[in-house]
Amino acid sequence: MMLSAETILARVSELGVEIAKAYAGRNLVLVVVLKGSFLFAADLCRAIELPNLRIDFFGVRSYGDGTESSGVVQITQDLAAPIAGDDVLIVEDIVDTGLTVLHMMDLLRTRGPRSIAVCSLLSKPTRARVAVNIDYLGFSIDDKFVVGYGLDVAEKYRNLPYIGIVERD
Ligand code: IMP
Repeated sequence: MMLSAETILARVSELGVEIAKAYAGRNLVLVVVLKGSFLFAADLCRAIELPNLRIDFFGVRSYGDGTESSGVVQITQDLAAPIAGDDVLIVEDIVDTGLTVLHMMDLLRTRGPRSIAVCSLLSKPTRARVAVNIDYLGFSIDDKFVVGYGLDVAEKYRNLPYIGIVERD
């Protein structure tokens, strides 16, 4: 096991407090990137004590075979509401090459938000192919393929309450 449920929740609570402080008095929208971020977002939003918090969902699929992402990002579901004038926080499960987040930021910026920032549970800094600033980061991890707490391999293991490493042959 790599990150226990307790370790994850403790860090997520800290992030929530930090985010609530940074966005006090603002109209914050969490843009949850499906599907991998659904559990992270569920815990994170409950740790952010802001009266005006909104939550919306954005579906992306990065094509790739097995555990390698190709960097080609397909949008599978758009936001339900406009974000013009809002403070947007993209909620990601993991920033790997950085291509998905970069693509999303470029796209969302065209809709006139007041600000865009990124919150990611995990980051694999050694894999970065593009420079992405992660404003709120849970954990930095080594270049290992991980599953659980929303993250999958071929759609499996999303329901694990902890994050574990997939052994590659
Ligand atoms: P990026 O565009 O390369 O940064 O890839 C981001 C997406 O690839 C994430 O949102 C995940 O869906 C997927 N991904 C990257 N690394 C992992 C991993 O270790 N486990 C599960 N999914 C991963």
